[in-house]
Amino acid sequence: MSIEYVESTRMWILNTKKTSYVMGLNQLQQLQHIYWGARLPYSSDYMITEAGSFGSQECTTDIINLEYPAWGGMIYSEPCLKVTFADKVRDLVLAYDSYAITNQDIPELTIRLRDPYNGLVVDLHYKAFEELDVVERYVEIINTGSDPVDLEQAQSAVWSIPGNHEYRLTHLAGKWLGETQVKQSVLTEGKKVLESRRGTTSNHANPWFAIDRGQASEYAGDVWFGALSWSGNWKITAEVTPFYAVRVTGGVNDFDFTYQLQPGESFSTPVFTGGFTTDGFGQASRNMHRYQLERLLPREHAGELRKVLYNSWEATLFNVTEKDQIKLAEKAALLGVELFVVDDGWFGQRSNDEAGLGDWYVNKEKFPHGLQPLISRCNELGMEFGLWVEPEMVNPDSDLYRQHPDWVMHFPNRPRTESRTQLVLNLGREDVREYIYGFLHDLLQNHNIRFIKWDMNRPFSEPGWPNAPTGRDKEIWVRYVEGLYLILDRLKAEHSSVEIETCASGGGRVDNGILSRTDQAWTSDNTNAYERLFIQEGYSYAYCAKTMVAWVTDSGNPTLPLTYRFHSAMMGTLGIGSNLHHWSDEQLATATTMIQLYKDIRHIVQHGSLYRLSSPRKKHQTAVQYVTADLKESVVFVLSTNQAPFLMSPPLQLSGLDPNQLYQLEGFDVCRSGKSLMAQGIQVAMNGFFQSKIIRIIAV
Ligand code: DGJ
Repeated sequence: MSIEYVESTRMWILNTKKTSYVMGLNQLQQLQHIYWGARLPYSSDYMITEAGSFGSQECTTDIINLEYPAWGGMIYSEPCLKVTFADKVRDLVLAYDSYAITNQDIPELTIRLRDPYNGLVVDLHYKAFEELDVVERYVEIINTGSDPVDLEQAQSAVWSIPGNHEYRLTHLAGKWLGETQVKQSVLTEGKKVLESRRGTTSNHANPWFAIDRGQASEYAGDVWFGALSWSGNWKITAEVTPFYAVRVTGGVNDFDFTYQLQPGESFSTPVFTGGFTTDGFGQASRNMHRYQLERLLPREHAGELRKVLYNSWEATLFNVTEKDQIKLAEKAALLGVELFVVDDGWFGQRSNDEAGLGDWYVNKEKFPHGLQPLISRCNELGMEFGLWVEPEMVNPDSDLYRQHPDWVMHFPNRPRTESRTQLVLNLGREDVREYIYGFLHDLLQNHNIRFIKWDMNRPFSEPGWPNAPTGRDKEIWVRYVEGLYLILDRLKAEHSSVEIETCASGGGRVDNGILSRTDQAWTSDNTNAYERLFIQEGYSYAYCAKTMVAWVTDSGNPTLPLTYRFHSAMMGTLGIGSNLHHWSDEQLATATTMIQLYKDIRHIVQHGSLYRLSSPRKKHQTAVQYVTADLKESVVFVLSTNQAPFLMSPPLQLSGLDPNQLYQLEGFDVCRSGKSLMAQGIQVAMNGFFQSKIIRIIAV
């Protein structure tokens, strides 16, 4: 059993294959966090920290880690929960009430805490994924009292890191065209806050973290890590208290947040998934990848290989017409493309980004016979058909906005700030959700559309909800995301054959919340194959390669060889975004060969284990290796960058192979054992800047 309660010590122990997560009751009946780290052998192994004696300026919660600290009494560090009761009391006491363990497929522990004065109940939920070495946590806050309660901060969890060391935080930061850059900083006393206040996950920061002692490498060292399942305003706070307790608290952002609980109502926080490994950042990533592949991604398509897609955006921008798209589709099919996606421009009065969003009817000038002729042609050519939509948005120049100006989020008598000439519909409103679901349902019902690219191209501004029920207008931040999830869940339920790609001007909405409802993600609008190596490396820290869509394009790639561009894009789910009419016969032939090669290796890339052998941030070459679960097949991508030395190639040590297995390496004469390939490595000759190779490795 991987979850147990030990009566004698009043502790709950959650064991996964290699980790233990432990909490218990202290002398004050508080639920105290006890341990999170490598699995310990005995249930008597765990020690509860005591505060000892302290001065009048100090508080116990700076040294003792409460499992779910509420703001009340003497607490000056980041709380998980802060409320105002109807009688204006803002003090909250969470005392232990009861627990339950259910041991089904995935064992689950629920610990109930209760405020003895006001009847507020907090259920802490834990799921221990034994094989995956991760724990899922979320909290349900229930108002069992007779008056309303305002939640002002309601975090999913705090992760307490053991001991009194100097710790380092690794996180992903960036911007539009430069998402998921790996950043590291040593934590000192105080707080480092990672967050989004933009309404969506953001291109700028990603709700994922890792903590180590400053020495962990890709292969070794203790790493604690976690990712939040939330696609709206989020916050992750890494904090070191004056007594060196190190904690990472995360959940829905408390900025501009109030959520009202009427008697009997409850609020469920997003899931926060965390894990620990002694085997460095590489294993931390692989554990999260496995969790995504085996548990998180929508089950209908989780086991299927992602298709090679063509996307029209960079080729034709808004200028999509039946005639031209059919010509592109014919060329794409010859290359081996499996899914043809028409991007922005097919609907309403959409000839640029100034009009049409919201009017989801097919533009008759561009598609005089509707979408059917193009879809039929794609199907004849052996390809599936996909369509771009941006359902959450409206241009002021649209029929929808003229009819329903109140459907956008706004404050009365205030400006409505436009970005890309568009405004954000309020998905907290049921009528808006019905409209969005209705047009998507009709599109999918009436056409053979097998793929949707769901875009979202601006953050929130003026997040007002004039007709919200009294006192609930600030809930828009949460209710918007819940509305988005409701639409996606309904679509997935009714149109289960349709695959969905999440996009927000590139990688602005990639997180475990959206990835539990969509099948893949558009990683970045930056399609420069070299700059992508940095974006993709950061992406791989938190998210699996199968979800990472990468296109081969011409834009921003003036001098990079076509094979280099392919190799860079083949490290995830491959797409093509170039105008194929601009490619020479030689380029088309190269593309055909590359797409075939990708189809031959994609089961390794998409379903295998990923090893970052060499980082573009640190070395003259990037190298990433993928290995199948049975260790019989592997593929290594090596791409040189613009850094010297580029003529001589030091050996590259491989990873993840079976040490005793003999392997054949493509391009090398002899067979070598996995042990030799990992201990000695291979030499990959690179003759200059921006060269690349793919090496296939097969057990003999
Ligand atoms: C932003 C996306 O990231 C692009 O790929 C493209 O779909 C455009 N939006 C279309 O407006």
